[in-house]
Amino acid sequence: MCGIVGYIGPKQCIPVILEGLRRLEYRGYDSAGIAVIDGGQLRVQKRAGKVADLAQLVERDGGSASSTVGMGHTRWATHGEPNDANAHPHTDCSGTIAVIHNGIIENYRSIKTKLIRDGHRFKSETDTEVLAHLIEQTYRRAGDLFTAVRIALRDVEGTYGLVVLSSREPDNMIAARMGSPLIVGVGEGEHLVAADAAAIVEYTRHVAYLEDGEIAEISAGGFRTTTIEDVTVDKEVHELTFDLAQIERGGYDHFMLKEIHEQPETIRNAIRGRLLVESGDVKLGGLSGVSEKIIHARRVILLGCGTSWHAGLVGEYMLEQIARIPTEVEYASEFRYRNPIVTSQDVVFAISQSGETADTLAALRLAKSKGATALGIVNVVGSTIARETEAGVYIHAGPEIGVASTKAFTSQLTVLALVTLFLARAKGMSQKDGAVLAKEMQSLPDKAARVLDHADELRSIAEQYKDARNFLYLGRGANFPVALEGALKLKEISYIHAEGYPAAEMKHGPIALIDEHMPVVFVVPKDAIYEKVASNIQEVRARKGRIIAVANEDDEEIAKMVDHVIRVPHTFGFFGPILNIIPLQLLSYWMAVSRGTNVDQPRNLAKSVTVE
Ligand code: M6R
Repeated sequence: MCGIVGYIGPKQCIPVILEGLRRLEYRGYDSAGIAVIDGGQLRVQKRAGKVADLAQLVERDGGSASSTVGMGHTRWATHGEPNDANAHPHTDCSGTIAVIHNGIIENYRSIKTKLIRDGHRFKSETDTEVLAHLIEQTYRRAGDLFTAVRIALRDVEGTYGLVVLSSREPDNMIAARMGSPLIVGVGEGEHLVAADAAAIVEYTRHVAYLEDGEIAEISAGGFRTTTIEDVTVDKEVHELTFDLAQIERGGYDHFMLKEIHEQPETIRNAIRGRLLVESGDVKLGGLSGVSEKIIHARRVILLGCGTSWHAGLVGEYMLEQIARIPTEVEYASEFRYRNPIVTSQDVVFAISQSGETADTLAALRLAKSKGATALGIVNVVGSTIARETEAGVYIHAGPEIGVASTKAFTSQLTVLALVTLFLARAKGMSQKDGAVLAKEMQSLPDKAARVLDHADELRSIAEQYKDARNFLYLGRGANFPVALEGALKLKEISYIHAEGYPAAEMKHGPIALIDEHMPVVFVVPKDAIYEKVASNIQEVRARKGRIIAVANEDDEEIAKMVDHVIRVPHTFGFFGPILNIIPLQLLSYWMAVSRGTNVDQPRNLAKSVTVE
């Protein structure tokens, strides 16, 4: 959720921190702040608003330009409204210790009560501020910052990725992790710390991932790590797999639009090197050691949240129809609290773009603790879910910055299709049938590019519907999750209320909503249930609903039944969602643009949900 970046080295740190915060702003954007060591003093500047507002404040107030040690934070509020006082960093009573934090301190109330009794004065409503005062207190007996933070954290329950800076020890900063990601960037005579590699890739490609329960002391020349219990940990340094160009907007007005247009390439990247078209086989190195377990599993459970959960719903159609493997899809947030029946005969796939979603991670850990085989379908290389799974498949979509997930969804679906074919072949699907599927899969990137040829039509449709207050999205089979995902996209970035339903469910309730003010989006490919969906279209028409249809290029009847048709190439049913969602992403995008909302940073949302 919140963005964290810290720098220590020879450079002036403020530009490094502000640029890092800009790159992390997608993680949270209601307030921002920095703390630097300036002439031996701790200097904190913070305010409600965006990183650009903070940058103005820093420029206006001047000073600290020569500072070479500092940290910054961009916030997604949990405790306390987004105002100047609640913005991070938070300081202790003496103003010599500053803390930035991502996560939730669950027992902050009891800690705060005790600290107030001991004479500490609080300036904010946040849970985070207790950390600054707690460290102030433990510093008295510990004598050094590293030990003080380590001891203080023993009293803390909840989740954190945090960085602590103090004027008492201006040559280092302390970072610690429990449940919220943190990485240390290793440079030449300089070190960085961040919640996400995007903040630091400009300076170094070498990173160490902190694990839960670890704490690091970071200086310009190096870093050391122990556990909270003071056991030394040797950290491996990894190389980042993406570069700066991938996290720039590249000429597009918004990251979301860039990411929508990247899909032919990202789908291709998900397939690259994995599909053997002639033999109808799939090579998935990550799953080769566990394929027998999956094939003989009692069932496969797909876990995820939001868009990743929708990908799981499509995956269920694929795995059950093609590979004939019993599959269930679960909201990770529900699964983790309902004491599910999971055994060592189950295989769990955690689906996550970020690889850091708190609910998905907790659900995965629960399934593991019950003996299930834990696998991942993840985008961010080296993320916590990727590291905590036994095996898995990266989707290789590249960094996704727009808060509304687009390219990650189609890459998740592509990987789920690959996993399906991989398992179907292992279960005995013929080479001939495998080759037919593989050939079609290989054509998907070009077909996705053909969908994007209609991008301008979506812009003009969006202009006509921008004042609608509600939308209904309907689809059947594997396109029901597409309807859900289309509705989610619209809600997230245009703030128009939208519902997704299986088309046949309309008559069981939602039909009451239909009148001339209700736009209804149908996903209606020419498949075995086309006629059924066509009947639902007629039912909406009869009640004067306005209809936008996503239909195949060769569907000659559809235009007579609906107000607008968006054409997509024909493909096999279970690959359809990969193409059919693209027009719905574009529709949401242009609706948001015409309504003037903030497309990449919609209100109240954050890219990576690392709190419950
Ligand atoms: O990083 P994850 O895929 O685990 O994230 C899951 C959801 O938080 C995410 O898909 C969210 O729903 C997006 N804002 C959807 O656009």
